[in-house]
Amino acid sequence: MRKSKVFVSEPINQKGIDLLTSKVELVYAPDTSNETALKLIGDCEGAILRATTVFNAEVIAAAKKLKVIARTGVGHNNVDLNAASEAGIYVTITPGTNNTSVAEHVLALILGMGKQLFFMNKAVREGRWFDRFSPFQIDIAGKTVGVVGLGTIGIEVGKRCKALGMYVIGYDPYYKGGIDLQRTDDLDFLLEHSDFVTLHCPSVPETKDMINQKSLARMKPMGYLINTSRGDLVDETALIEALENKTIKGAAIDVFKDEPVAPDNPLLKAPNLIMSPHCAGSTIESNERIAVMAAQSVLEVFSGKRPKHICNQKQLAVQDE
Ligand SMILES: NC(=O)c1ccc[n+]([C@@H]2O[C@H](COP(=O)([O-])OP(=O)(O)OC[C@H]3O[C@@H](n4cnc5c(N)ncnc54)[C@H](O)[C@@H]3O)[C@@H](O)[C@H]2O)c1
Repeated sequence: MRKSKVFVSEPINQKGIDLLTSKVELVYAPDTSNETALKLIGDCEGAILRATTVFNAEVIAAAKKLKVIARTGVGHNNVDLNAASEAGIYVTITPGTNNTSVAEHVLALILGMGKQLFFMNKAVREGRWFDRFSPFQIDIAGKTVGVVGLGTIGIEVGKRCKALGMYVIGYDPYYKGGIDLQRTDDLDFLLEHSDFVTLHCPSVPETKDMINQKSLARMKPMGYLINTSRGDLVDETALIEALENKTIKGAAIDVFKDEPVAPDNPLLKAPNLIMSPHCAGSTIESNERIAVMAAQSVLEVFSGKRPKHICNQKQLAVQDE
């Protein structure tokens, strides 16, 4: 019997592959470009996407047999949900698989920046031993962290920061509960009172450039910004200026407006900036959980079921009307 084809454009953990191999034929894309997706997608009934491959309206129009796009993680801004829904394609995500991983990454950044680990490491290597007397290392206990977005990850970050003896202020206009902490309806209040501001909201029109020149100016001069959510949330030019002008002490970003980061991206030269390549949610353990859940979503659809973790529920409902 002919096996259904599943498009895979970026590596996924072997546990997910193992679930699929006996049941489907995997079509590995050699790169994450649109041209390649357009070439290969026509025959495929399923696709597993990570963050880089873009399934826009053009790719989806070429995907005549596609029934399901399983997006790893919870972000899905690389998939045109309306185009997928119009074509009757389920788009699924893998909620709950990397909350702990991202929250731990944020803690690593709070501790790493607060203790100046990244710079001290460089200092030793460059023979600047007496940077050990730098006055910039701080105690984390007693400091305030402002958590913007109190969803799954924001809550996990808040819990861990409390355990470190930090004060936690949360801002989320759509808060649904889940953690006992001081909340504010005023983002400016959070920015002004936090030693660390960490972003955990989705990329939607409302959150675009929510951290901009004005909001950075409200932060403490010894304050740090952390973005592990989506690059769209931060005006990158304003961030570079704030770092160069010492408006804030430092920043750490795992996500960028354009990924992968281009070699001439000015962020690469910004001072006091720690960068990672969108890997906060990627650990050995989370990659297993993510790949298994994405593979299960594909198999659910292939066996005629409605998958559990659909993210275009609303758009599909509109199409059904
Ligand atoms: N860097 C990584 O590897 C990685 C991994 C996983 C998730 N993420 C990103 O982390 C972010 C958070 O993920 P999550 O699973 O916690 O999502 P979630 O949906 O559980 O939580 C998002 C929260 O943001 C809140 N929110 C919405 N608009 C807001 C606004 N204007 N101001 C403040 N809060 C607002 C929502 O009410 C919700 O509580 C997402 O952007 C996701 O894409 C990144």
